[in-house]
Amino acid sequence: MERPFPTVAVVGLGTMGTGVAVAVARSGRRVIGIEADEACAARALARIEESTARAVDRGRLTAAERTGLLARIAVGHALEAAAGADLVIEEVPERLELKREVFAELDRICPAATVLATGTTALSVTRIAAATTRPDRVLGLHFFNPVHSMRLVEVVRTVLTSPGTAEDAAAFARELGKEPVAAGDRAGFVVNGLLFAYLNQAAAMYESRYATREDIDAAMRLGCGLPMGPLELLDLIGVDTARTVLEAMYEQSRDRLHAPAPVLGQLVAAGLLGRKSGRGFYTYEAPGSSRAVDAVTGPARPGTPGREVRTIGVCGSGTMATGIVEVFARAGHPVLLAARSREKAERAKAQLARSLERSVARGRLTGEQRDAALGLVSPVGRYDELAGADLVVEAVAEDLAVKRELFAVLDGIVRPGAVLATTTSSLPVIACASATSRPQDVVGMHFFNPAPAMRLVEVVSTVLTAPDATATVLELCAKVGKHPVECGDRAGFVVNALLFPYLNDAVRMLQEHYATVDDIDTAMKLGCGYPMGPFELLDVVGLDVSLTIEQVLHREFREPGLAAAPLLEHLVAAGCLGRKTGRGFRDHARR
Ligand SMILES: NC(=O)c1ccc[n+]([C@@H]2O[C@H](COP(=O)([O-])OP(=O)(O)OC[C@H]3O[C@@H](n4cnc5c(N)ncnc54)[C@H](O)[C@@H]3O)[C@@H](O)[C@H]2O)c1
Repeated sequence: MERPFPTVAVVGLGTMGTGVAVAVARSGRRVIGIEADEACAARALARIEESTARAVDRGRLTAAERTGLLARIAVGHALEAAAGADLVIEEVPERLELKREVFAELDRICPAATVLATGTTALSVTRIAAATTRPDRVLGLHFFNPVHSMRLVEVVRTVLTSPGTAEDAAAFARELGKEPVAAGDRAGFVVNGLLFAYLNQAAAMYESRYATREDIDAAMRLGCGLPMGPLELLDLIGVDTARTVLEAMYEQSRDRLHAPAPVLGQLVAAGLLGRKSGRGFYTYEAPGSSRAVDAVTGPARPGTPGREVRTIGVCGSGTMATGIVEVFARAGHPVLLAARSREKAERAKAQLARSLERSVARGRLTGEQRDAALGLVSPVGRYDELAGADLVVEAVAEDLAVKRELFAVLDGIVRPGAVLATTTSSLPVIACASATSRPQDVVGMHFFNPAPAMRLVEVVSTVLTAPDATATVLELCAKVGKHPVECGDRAGFVVNALLFPYLNDAVRMLQEHYATVDDIDTAMKLGCGYPMGPFELLDVVGLDVSLTIEQVLHREFREPGLAAAPLLEHLVAAGCLGRKTGRGFRDHARR
């Protein structure tokens, strides 16, 4: 086909339908817009006129283009008008019976060759197709809101959709300037299938008071570079919509992780649907507003004051230790860099010097600041020299025996009242604390890699941590330009507990041949604005590291849905660990 679908009917001109109609008309095609009745049609036309006028104001469209575009869109309320279309895109409200009725009618009205597409988010495309006599020419075209700026389109094939129909639809999406990804008929398709399970876990985490809503949101924004935190996003999507999507996912998967968190049901029952109703997880200035008025911003927390911290000891000589030393030294703290030998400590300092040099080269640091920071760092080869430190941060190997031994040593050396912190990402902080005689002074201080650049620090309190020890670390983080979030001592803390189940779901999707590595990565980047797709991220983090974290999470929560995907285990067993070995989900050696 030269130019797929020269005339397109759009049935239902609400939020999505108007966006789709405009995008199709922009590609030069004729659009037949169909609404429920005359009054709805008039309102729909007004919406199209307004949205295109806004596009002109914002320079996305010229006035002449708008005139041409509007001339190509006819809006009415008789479904019979769809008979003149090569493709019909249905965008009526998300109710199965309504969609099936519309499809049965369209099937009667449209010539046999016409392709019928549904815009459903979470309903079964197959069940909608079954209302017609042409299931081979029925598919899903899942656009994202707002259509003009979101480039992704999921092209959903059922087992009956003919390959040609799906190919034409993908070509059509490309002509609209969109990026099509292929998906099968499963609730949530690729993007929502991966996104909503994660949003649900975040809601459950909030509900269990594991962390505050602000901390959960900040953790995912700052720890993973996501454009929004999960609870902010739930408010934007609509708590009711999220609950509906999760219900549909659960119905198909029977995975408890898809069963909507009870808090979602409570919010819906209370009419707290998110931004659109002015209140959801947060309260907004007014219904429809994006300004939350009750969010506690900034890391400052009232309550117990922390202890005084001047000199800081950092144990370790690896990437994390060196990065953490840089954070403190750049903020003006004298740092004792303690490694197993003087040489290792010296080498770590040389590494730090190179890192500071790079910052100078990039214009982020002056020569004087570099010298001042370096001057504050004293490499030491014996832990005895940490006796006078006010805080010691341990960043040695991720091995519990090694860490416990170190904590026992520190316990015998460091002055009473000093805070002892571990930067472990997957071991229990309490297991480090219990190796000392002062568990009240032991805190988790989980930095992210690279520590100088990543603003997030998860501050972990055990059941024995003294409030002023936690406060010390919270205050220090704020002082050195980090954003602390507080959480309890359980596997994965906030970020990894929300991130890795999502990555595991992506691996499972691949393993089930539901979608390809490239399609899944593209879908998450374009559909959610993520900086990296799940497979890109897994290859960067390391498949072995990821597998360990997933195993720790599974062991802690015993949730069947958290069991590491066998494909990940196989790749690790085969030595495909990601970028560091040249091959993981992608082959990096050949690039
Ligand atoms: N809003 C989103 O963010 C989003 C994103 C992707 C997909 N979707 C999906 O897109 C579809 C449309 O959602 P929406 O948000 O645009 O809904 P909406 O409520 O904004 O619009 C639906 C429109 O359909 C019209 N309508 C109802 N019955 C009709 C009929 N029998 N014939 C013709 N028109 C009829 C309504 O008058 C209304 O204008 C749904 O399946 C939804 O799940 C929505």
